[in-house]
Amino acid sequence: MPAGASDLYSSDLPPTVQRKTMFDLKALLGDQPAQSLDLIEEHVNPQFAKVLRIIGYDVRYVRGQAQYLYDDQGNRYIDCLAGYGTFACGRNHPVIRDALKQAMDMDLPNLPKMGAYRLSGLLARELIKVAPPGLDTVFFTNCGAMGVETAIKYARAATKRSRIVFCKKGFHGLSVGALGVNGNEEFREGFGPLGLACTAIPFNDLAALEAELAKGDVAGFIVEPIQGKGVNIPSDDYLPGVAALCKKHGTVYIDDEVQTGYGRTGKMWACQHWNVEPDIMITAKALSGGYVPVGAVLAKRSIHNAVFSSLDRCVVHSTTFGQNDLAMAAGLATLHVLREERIVENSQAVGTLLRDKLQALVPKYELLKEVRGKGLMIAVEFGPPKSMMLRAQWNMLHSIDASLFPQAILIPLLKDHHVLAQVAGHHLDVIKLIPSLVLNPQDVDHLVNAFDQVIASCSRLTGPMWEVGKRLSAQALKRTTQGAGAS
Ligand SMILES: Cc1ncc(COP(=O)(O)O)c(C=O)c1O
Repeated sequence: MPAGASDLYSSDLPPTVQRKTMFDLKALLGDQPAQSLDLIEEHVNPQFAKVLRIIGYDVRYVRGQAQYLYDDQGNRYIDCLAGYGTFACGRNHPVIRDALKQAMDMDLPNLPKMGAYRLSGLLARELIKVAPPGLDTVFFTNCGAMGVETAIKYARAATKRSRIVFCKKGFHGLSVGALGVNGNEEFREGFGPLGLACTAIPFNDLAALEAELAKGDVAGFIVEPIQGKGVNIPSDDYLPGVAALCKKHGTVYIDDEVQTGYGRTGKMWACQHWNVEPDIMITAKALSGGYVPVGAVLAKRSIHNAVFSSLDRCVVHSTTFGQNDLAMAAGLATLHVLREERIVENSQAVGTLLRDKLQALVPKYELLKEVRGKGLMIAVEFGPPKSMMLRAQWNMLHSIDASLFPQAILIPLLKDHHVLAQVAGHHLDVIKLIPSLVLNPQDVDHLVNAFDQVIASCSRLTGPMWEVGKRLSAQALKRTTQGAGAS
């Protein structure tokens, strides 16, 4: 605490409140690396902790910087998850951190609620400057799912219709409204009925969209420009077709850029690859700078006005922490860093390099089917090999569990090459790479070399496919027998 600050506080405090202690976070964390997964297992998410242990992902990370994580042994990892796309500018970016420190040191009048906010207007103005044309109002949220809820409400208010159309395999978050437009059954199962009038159609299918919109009752069509689950890229006529169909049928075109926004795909917004202008754009993740959860929903003024339609409806949609100063400061600093450090340009250049170098491995390995992506959102897809023995292993793994094969790649990637990555969705043979956008060409070489070596060893009969099959199927068997015992 700066000298004098504590005195200032103390003099105004009632005698019963004694502010004399320091809170020592460093000391608290002192010996935590050893225990942290135990605590998670005990109090937060036991199943998740078990999974981490089973696949050897129980690494004790103690530090993050830029595109890297560091463990308690001093090993450096290339983080290809980047907090699910949150650390676009890199972890613990000094400029963003400094902006937050400045905000804290200013004793800002945070969340006055019934009063003028100081930072949110500034961030809204900056966002609108870089947004696709026509999006000139901003609603601040605390996360992506809340942005989706917002967009659904906005579309309904603006059209006076109720139905929302969404895409199979689409992912828009896990709150109940967002789950209603989630195209992955694995997430919906067990939580229904989800209540909303929603209809799923195939992604990249304009005829299916037209058939639904022509019914005249669709408030909004929500779609990711590139689907996160699987990294599915639409054909070039799809999003322009979506925009035209939505316009024709009076449906609100909702562009979910929660993952693809802020440079992830090599342009500020992924919809800019196809020059489309959505009616609503949902953003979150990277705007936080990786520090303070925040999202922003950008909408056309006519839509915004239909929601906040009168004085007595001026807070008809709001959230307690929306526009909070630290989130706004993080957002402003993030936009500054993206622009000044030319991070979107780097995403495009280094992303292309990574994709091209990984693509060059495809002819080398029968297991490797395709590499696709834009910017630093890249999918490495595997497929059944031709040779008989290898195919038998592939089939064996898939018969145990349709999500098992990628672990044969991911486990050695982490263990032997210090690359943290994840499968791109349930039952997919796809690994998704969404590293920080400050990845450099040396990181690219490390990643390509790591994939090369791991796929080479997976192509051997006693390699990781065999190992993972043996190890994880034993675990699966144990779980089944334990489960049977319990019931
Ligand atoms: C496209 C998309 N929309 C919405 C969400 C939900 O965001 P959040 O997890 O911040 O609620 C996600 C999260 O991964 C996402 O990828």
